[in-house]
Amino acid sequence: MQDNGAKQAEVRTQFPPVIGAELSRVDGPVKTTGRAQYAADYNFPGLVYAVPVCATISNGKIRAMDTAAAEKMPGVVAVLHHDNIGPIYRPSSGHMNEDRQPFEDNNVYYWGQFVAVAVGKTLQQAQAAAAAVRVTYDEDKPNVSTKLDDAGVETQTRSKRGDVSAGFSGAPVKVDETYATPTEMHNPMEMHATTAVWDGNRVTLYESSQGVVGYQHTLSQVLGVSKENMRVVSRFIGSGFGSKLSPWPQSALAGAAARKVNRPVKLMVTRKMMFCDTGHRPRTQQNVRIGATPDGKLVSLEQHYRNSTSFVGNYHENCGEATPFIYTTPNLEVTSALVKRNIGTPCPMRGPGAVPGLFAVESAMDELAWKLKMDPVELRLKNDTLIDESNGKPFSSRHLKECLQVGADKFGWSQRNPEVGSMRRGDTVLGWGMAAASWGAWRGGCQATVTLKADGTASVRCAAQDPGTGTYTIFAQIVSDKTGLPVDKIEVLLGDTDFVPGGTSGGSTLTATVMPAIADASNGAVQMVLAMATRPGAPFEGKKPSDLMMNGGHVHLKANPGENPVPMQEVLRAAKVSYASADGRSGALGSDTKARDYSTHSFGAQFIEVEWRPNIAQLRVSRVVSVMDAGRIINLKTGTNQIQGGVVMGIGMALFEQAIYDPRNGHPINDNFADYIVATNADVPAIEVHFLGIPDPIMGEYGARGIGEIGLAGVAPAITNAVYHATGVRVRELPVSIEDLLRSTVV
Ligand code: MOS
Repeated sequence: MQDNGAKQAEVRTQFPPVIGAELSRVDGPVKTTGRAQYAADYNFPGLVYAVPVCATISNGKIRAMDTAAAEKMPGVVAVLHHDNIGPIYRPSSGHMNEDRQPFEDNNVYYWGQFVAVAVGKTLQQAQAAAAAVRVTYDEDKPNVSTKLDDAGVETQTRSKRGDVSAGFSGAPVKVDETYATPTEMHNPMEMHATTAVWDGNRVTLYESSQGVVGYQHTLSQVLGVSKENMRVVSRFIGSGFGSKLSPWPQSALAGAAARKVNRPVKLMVTRKMMFCDTGHRPRTQQNVRIGATPDGKLVSLEQHYRNSTSFVGNYHENCGEATPFIYTTPNLEVTSALVKRNIGTPCPMRGPGAVPGLFAVESAMDELAWKLKMDPVELRLKNDTLIDESNGKPFSSRHLKECLQVGADKFGWSQRNPEVGSMRRGDTVLGWGMAAASWGAWRGGCQATVTLKADGTASVRCAAQDPGTGTYTIFAQIVSDKTGLPVDKIEVLLGDTDFVPGGTSGGSTLTATVMPAIADASNGAVQMVLAMATRPGAPFEGKKPSDLMMNGGHVHLKANPGENPVPMQEVLRAAKVSYASADGRSGALGSDTKARDYSTHSFGAQFIEVEWRPNIAQLRVSRVVSVMDAGRIINLKTGTNQIQGGVVMGIGMALFEQAIYDPRNGHPINDNFADYIVATNADVPAIEVHFLGIPDPIMGEYGARGIGEIGLAGVAPAITNAVYHATGVRVRELPVSIEDLLRSTVV
């Protein structure tokens, strides 16, 4: 195990069983019994339904809009558009996904863009009215081309060291290939929705949001109210995968429509609309050039990538997220460029940048291994580094090497015959592929409130949210760790801007972000209880609070913990108070002087077997071993589940997922679950997940990094590398198609 300077830092090594336990989700029962309220589940007296009218061109202008027939239909409250919806402002700070507000002007930039909204007393009446709005357009030719070769686009250097042209031209072994990943849709189970309720000049938005604090900050400006006058509630979320990090037009429209018609308004984005109006992972095209010595040392590494974006956004897919530091090389250059297309605006999607970026880099590494006739695991081990060469800092905790070794061992990699098409199980050809994974590790600033109550229970709350990852459960585990109360005695309240500000569920940062604040608040509340325990008439009268400790929900004498423990609730009752409550804080990694000297990232290795049946051209992923170096794992059950979910998404990315736009009009023609294929149970084998579990001392007391995204990293290239091993077909553009596989000469 590597030291990485971590030894000097203080890190806890003893944890009570609640940390790292395989705990079921504390929010499981309310979800599975249908009691969890999602954004579109809120109902209020007089509530009406808003249904957007979607553009049927992807480039041009609205010439005319005829709403007369729609307005006369039964139950129709209003048909709202540019002229009558009232103010929708651009925010001066914060983040909207689009740099334009809905209905700002008569321009249409993508198919499905909201051009009007029908408001009706029932959903069906609103849908009928929306369908009856007649819009005519002046249509220009759309550009939805999948070739991102446009001339004249600005190129930006993202990372650079040494001299790549000298390094590459002088290298004895070279790989120079272009890889592409398609437009991919987040497809969360729960669609984006807003229920907007005004009370005078105060508005509450029930949202499906991965960041209620950010939504409040941005949307208060959009609707022109003070932050104090906007509450955003997002108690339960049916996932988001990044599409709910920042608000989309539907939030602004629901809020503005509710103000205009003076009634609560519910606006739910349909799955069809989701394909246009709430983001996607943009298409990427990436040229990777690697120069190496015959014994497999990288001499130079280049990644020149482009991603598509819309005409109303400048979203950059950071494909070089991991490239500058994943391997050692003296010469490196990463450049990016944006290419505009008439499709909806992209945004982060699970492992943004790193996931498509690693598809390219880890495919190129595999191609290099074949050229070198070197084992691909060995090639990666040979180029491992404990210094982030992009900035010269040591990694806080990097164990890619151990991931590769553990993965190879668990998978049985030593049994691999490297020859294409050489491994068989009956009529089935087996392909074994692998890839490295990486994703950043960060910690933001936030607050939390912990309350210890006279009924023997506790609560913890802050304005964070749980997109389905296990955040509710982690909250309870930290309070339990600090108080010894069992998790079922701890109520967790999230997803409401009325609570102290919490973090965003994004970038796999929330666990590391909230834990110090919850620990701090728990410690504060415990200190209050200990102080009460020493008051006159209290169970520990005459002692000092510093003589006491809380453990197992009881107050004890530190010197003699087993003797006469007093339940917390008795201490509170003796003090005649109903609860002791304290706020705690987390500091962002960026303002942590100790952290500044380190580069913080998670790592992993994916080992995958595919089965190829040449007689019927059938390909299937048959085995996955995923090894993760993501710091200490707080909850083994929800943590394993996160990695498995990432792998499932990676199978979809490699084999199925892509949004296809009709070149004639920009319509995403597979805008539904029948035609946009995601991996389902039949496509997914058992997924073996191993965590190294080595605490990262720089991330905080618990040494945990986030795990929401890294499980997806490296999966697609491990699959295409396995496909090459089975079939001899190198797929450089995802997803793998049957047409690709029919080029196989393996029979
Ligand atoms: Mo993640 S793309 O930050 O939800």
